[in-house]
Amino acid sequence: MIQRRSSGPYVEPGMTVMDVGCGMGLFSLAMARMVGAEGRVIAVDLQQKMLDVLQKRTEKAGLAGRIRLHKCAQHRLGVEEPVDFSLAMMMVHEVPDQQRLLGEIYRCLKPEGKLLIAEPKIHVPGKAFRRTVAIAKELGFDLVAEPTVHGCRAVVLAKKSC
Ligand SMILES: C[S@@+](CC[C@H](N)C(=O)[O-])C[C@H]1O[C@@H](n2cnc3c(N)ncnc32)[C@H](O)[C@@H]1O
Repeated sequence: MIQRRSSGPYVEPGMTVMDVGCGMGLFSLAMARMVGAEGRVIAVDLQQKMLDVLQKRTEKAGLAGRIRLHKCAQHRLGVEEPVDFSLAMMMVHEVPDQQRLLGEIYRCLKPEGKLLIAEPKIHVPGKAFRRTVAIAKELGFDLVAEPTVHGCRAVVLAKKSC
C-alpha cells in the first residue's frame, strides 16, 4: 500500500492530479481510484511505450475515463490544465534540467497546490536531494512535509497562494 501512504493525505475525491514520469502507472492507477469518478489523473511520460502499457492497464482496471495519457518532451511537459496535486515519484533524478522541470510543474499547480517528490535513496544521495529541494524553494515552493516513503527521500512542497 505504498501508493496510498505516499499520496493519500494529499489526494481527495474530485481533484485533478498529475503523475509526472508515470512509467507504467502504478501510482496513476492508485490516484485514479482516490480521485473518484469526478476526478482526473493526467499521466505524463517521455516514453510512448510506458503510456501504451498504462493505457492497457487503465482499460483493464475500468479507469480509462479518469486517466488522460500525455506524452511530453524532455524539456517540456506541455500540460496546460491546472492541477491540485502533482506526484514526481522516482523520476526527478533522471531529468537533466531539474529547474526547468520543477518550474513547469509549479506553473501547472493551482495556488496552494502540492507536489510530492520521492527519490530512491539508492540512486540519490542526501546532498543531491537537498539540492533538488533548494531548486524548488528558489522557484517559490514552500516545504510543507517530509513524509516517510519506503526506500525514498521525500518531500511535499506547496505552491504559494498568490
Ligand atoms: C524510474 S521510472 C518511475 C516510474 C513511476 N513514477 C513509478 O514510480 O513507478 C521514471 C520514469 O520517468 C520518466 N521520465 C524521465 N524523464 C522524464 C521527463 N523529463 N519528463 C517526463 N517523464 C520522464 C521515464 O520515462 C520513466 O518512465
